[in-house]
Amino acid sequence: MPTTSSLLTNVGFFDFWEVVMVGQLEQLLGQLDALRERALAELAPINTSAALEEWDVQYLGRNRGELKSLSSVMPKLTKEERPVVGQRMNAVKSVLERSLAEKREELKERELLLALESERIDVTLPGRNVPAGKMHPLSQVMLEVSEIFERMGFSIVQGPEVETDYYNFQALNIPADHPARDMQDTFWVVPGQLLLRTQTSPMQIRTMKQQQPPVRILAPGTTYRNEAIDATHEAVFHQIEGLLIDEHCTMADLKGCLERFVHELFGPERRLRFRGSYFPFTEPSAEVDISCGICDGKGCRACKYSGWLEVLGSGMVHPKVLREVGYDPKKYRGFAFGMGVERIAMLKYGIGEIRLFSGNDLRFLRQL
Ligand code: FA5
Repeated sequence: MPTTSSLLTNVGFFDFWEVVMVGQLEQLLGQLDALRERALAELAPINTSAALEEWDVQYLGRNRGELKSLSSVMPKLTKEERPVVGQRMNAVKSVLERSLAEKREELKERELLLALESERIDVTLPGRNVPAGKMHPLSQVMLEVSEIFERMGFSIVQGPEVETDYYNFQALNIPADHPARDMQDTFWVVPGQLLLRTQTSPMQIRTMKQQQPPVRILAPGTTYRNEAIDATHEAVFHQIEGLLIDEHCTMADLKGCLERFVHELFGPERRLRFRGSYFPFTEPSAEVDISCGICDGKGCRACKYSGWLEVLGSGMVHPKVLREVGYDPKKYRGFAFGMGVERIAMLKYGIGEIRLFSGNDLRFLRQL
């Protein structure tokens, strides 16, 4: 093995540097190979994208990557050595880049498979039932009654639940001292002036004040009475008001209209009974009963052994009411009726307790 001093004696000055440089070159190439092997060995077990990005920065990073650091020696190399080192460097770089791309692809696929596995959907599983809501029985009754009258040419109107004394009482021929006021215990908002409507009849006045005859309206809505609650009475309940005004309207039209309504809602086998009654805003007035659907009029507990069930109040519109809204009672006549929605629903579904409708017990509501 020649020593450096023997080499010095055997070769010239320039030859010595060539030997040193040759040594450096080999070393450099060796470093590049070692770098490649180390990088590949570290790449093999990587199994997350985050670790792969770190590897990329460490070996191929443009600023501080190891390959980049080695390339900084290039300017120190001779013209002949540069292409040798450059070639090896490119070869190492392309091996690492190719391996990186392959690994990226492999990880992408692996991550996709993992995602597919964890987000797997079994389309053959039976579907989950979405519980379907349904209309409240009182809404159903209101809708059904409205549809029956709409088929007879009535239009639906709605109005305020907070009413004035004028519309709820005075204009309906119930002045301040009238005993009929006692029939409807009132919730006052401003005593003597503003109240929660005790009936839907104020909609008669509101409609007639707004339009000229002929009139044919149906007014469903909530009503309030300050009364003791029991199996057939609520303080908050619902009514449906009907009003028809025309030039040639008689009690026979009222009977025909209500007969058709009862037969459509309860069935054609039901019989009707018009019983004389009193309302200050109709003359004559009648309450309408239908034959009991349980005993067919023979008498049972449901109809209190009378064979009949009360459905609504009605009558021919009082001339005083017509005058109040500016209609000529000599020219126009009409009929009106008002029914309790809860009572209709009780008759229709055979229920003896009115409070069930407002009780919010789903076991009850779901049955209707
Ligand atoms: C009236 O309210 C009149 N406005 C009806 C009317 C209209 C007559 C047009 C003539 C012309 P009455 O107070 O009877 O009438 O009530 C009518 C219906 O509402 C009753 O038949 C009943 O079914 C229902 N009703 C009355 N009070 C209650 C209550 N506290 N709870 C549940 N329903 C009630």
